[in-house]
Amino acid sequence: MPHFLQETDLPRSALPGLFALARDLKRRRGRKGPRPLEGQTWALIFSKSSTRTRVSFEVGLHELGARPLFLNRNDIQLGRGESIEDTARVLSRFVHGLIVRTFDHQDVVRLAAAGTVPVINALTDLLHPCQIYADAFTLAERWTRGTSGAALFGSLRGRKIAFLGDAACNVANSWILGGNLFGMKVALAGPKTFAPTPAVDALLREAGLPGGYTFTTDPYEAVRDADVVYTDVWVSMGKEEETRARRRQMAPYAVTPKLFAAARPDAFFLHCLPAHPGEEVSPEVLASPRSLIFDEAENRLHIQKAILTRLAAGRR
Ligand code: CP
Ligand code: NVA
Repeated sequence: MPHFLQETDLPRSALPGLFALARDLKRRRGRKGPRPLEGQTWALIFSKSSTRTRVSFEVGLHELGARPLFLNRNDIQLGRGESIEDTARVLSRFVHGLIVRTFDHQDVVRLAAAGTVPVINALTDLLHPCQIYADAFTLAERWTRGTSGAALFGSLRGRKIAFLGDAACNVANSWILGGNLFGMKVALAGPKTFAPTPAVDALLREAGLPGGYTFTTDPYEAVRDADVVYTDVWVSMGKEEETRARRRQMAPYAVTPKLFAAARPDAFFLHCLPAHPGEEVSPEVLASPRSLIFDEAENRLHIQKAILTRLAAGRR
């Protein structure tokens, strides 16, 4: 059963085709597009808040012909102690796939192992793979002159992304894994206490990826020669009690116009959103012509429709 729990669940060889499909779905939107999920029902099990992920999956499923069924974890028996395994076994009898946002990454691994339908990771504390695919597609749209999927995907190779702030968060981990899969250079900067953890090194090793990334406490060193500057909130969902300490420690890593200007002159700015203007990023950077944040948000829809199409066809 194919799943999408982490970036490397799709082989690199599948990515040019995936990007080409996402671009095709984007161009055809509003006109009658393919409905490979006609008659299906997919459940979204969410334990955390969401705007982009929930809406893009619900709309995407609808456009592909499927019915989305949104389940707040606390509204189903999972929230009252029914096991993850039984939840997976029961839901597999009713629906064609599960899209899951939760805390512990092992929860999505266990759902996938116990169920008999595809599982998509819609964010865990460890990884946010749908986000990173949308981010990469957004960059490829800007960097591609050719029209093929190979040109789109190939445009990422050798580019440098600088990630600032919480370098141990799900989005940072996913960029380490995804960046290596896409052939990009990944440079992270943040406080020492928020450096990438051994968990991400283990993921790289297991995936057979070269493991190339750098971590520094100097934000200017990370952004030097960067083609993309990326940041995420300093306080991820579930870490709210650390807010004060995190704000204090991460203040030097705010993406200000001065820090953004230290990257390449044609560098783009990305943020998975939601953003806190004036905290991890200045309002001027968010509003800059080189900020792609709303294309990035829109592309969640198109790339996820491409991922759903592949999983529904039983292909990785
Ligand atoms: N970027 C992202 O996943 O946003 P939501 O939390 O709104 O889904
Ligand atoms: N790192 C953030 C991403 C939100 C999309 C969080 O986990 O809250």
